[in-house]
Amino acid sequence: MYAQMIKSEATTDDPEKLKEFQARIDDDIKVEPRDWMPEGYRKTLIRQIGQHAHSEIVGQLPEGNWITRAPTLERKMILLAKVQDEAGHGLYLYAAAETLGVSRDDLTEQLLSGKMKYSSIFNYATLNWADIGAVGWLVDGAAIMNQVPLQRTSYGPYSRAMIRICKEESFHQRQGYDIMMKMAQGTEAQKKMAQDALNRLWYPSLMMFGPSDADSVHSTQNMAWKIKMNTNDELRQKFVDQTVPQAEYLGLTIPDENLTWNEKKGGYDYSDPDWSEFFDVLKGNGPCNVDRLEARNKAWDDGAWVRDGLMAHAEKKRAAKTAAE
Ligand code: 3HC
Repeated sequence: MYAQMIKSEATTDDPEKLKEFQARIDDDIKVEPRDWMPEGYRKTLIRQIGQHAHSEIVGQLPEGNWITRAPTLERKMILLAKVQDEAGHGLYLYAAAETLGVSRDDLTEQLLSGKMKYSSIFNYATLNWADIGAVGWLVDGAAIMNQVPLQRTSYGPYSRAMIRICKEESFHQRQGYDIMMKMAQGTEAQKKMAQDALNRLWYPSLMMFGPSDADSVHSTQNMAWKIKMNTNDELRQKFVDQTVPQAEYLGLTIPDENLTWNEKKGGYDYSDPDWSEFFDVLKGNGPCNVDRLEARNKAWDDGAWVRDGLMAHAEKKRAAKTAAE
């Protein structure tokens, strides 16, 4: 239905302008905030960048939860830095979305009321320290697979935000893999924890790439507009192909009996996630959806006095300036 809305919005734009716009996209000329753009392009960018920003912010919760329980001071410092990076990523992305005419407050309100989505992965719990390793390795690994191509996305502010974000995400993925190495090479109990984390987080990580291409609503139009550079299944396949050898190196087993190398396609055949579970999580019924939204709402309410104080200060300064003029 959303696709239909975008399509009809796009077609109400002046056909000549639409043609010129598409020609610029085809020539890889970046679209900048003051350029003319179809309404559908603007709306779908707000949706995608907004969801992405929310994912970075909500994504702090499952990891922030482990800062106080990190096993060493060094691990604590690294995790703290990573979680702070995610907050920074959220801010770059909200700033990019603001250039499209939506305020950060509007986007935040839509997150807090449950109207806007964030990545399904963050509705799963991090139960033990190995999960923090698996999140860095798999979740940040999947995020990078999706986000590296987005550095070439057609909207200038989004593309530039992605360049910076990707640099930091690579560090995040490495810190996760480093934790997994320690666990996988540790005691029997630690190795079991690492395997258990992989078992639980493998399929939710595959879900991060979105529904299968047949069920993707936005891919066709968004790829034509170069908002999205690859289909969901293309990136999922690349992720599987990259991750299987990494699991082998760790001596861990991907929880998929159908995983086999397919010489002809030059990639692995693998089992799809349970798509009914995916759509259920999107509807709000995942293991942690309620907790995540409650935590974000509480943080917003608890921060009200800071926002009020800052606004009062800004108002006072503005009034003083007007009086002096
Ligand atoms: N979680 C939640 N919602 C998802 C989803 C997921 N994993 N995958 C798809 N969806 C939603 C879409 O938003 C869309 O919903 P809507 O129409 O109500 O907005 C619907 O499912 C249909 O999916 P489509 O394939 O048609 O949607 P898209 O074309 O938008 O593709 C996407 C989905 C691949 C996630 C794309 O939006 C994208 O590339 N986004 C940018 C990257 C991003 O948001 N990443 C978040 C990852 S987490 C992260 O970055 C934090 C880091 O620290 C780990």
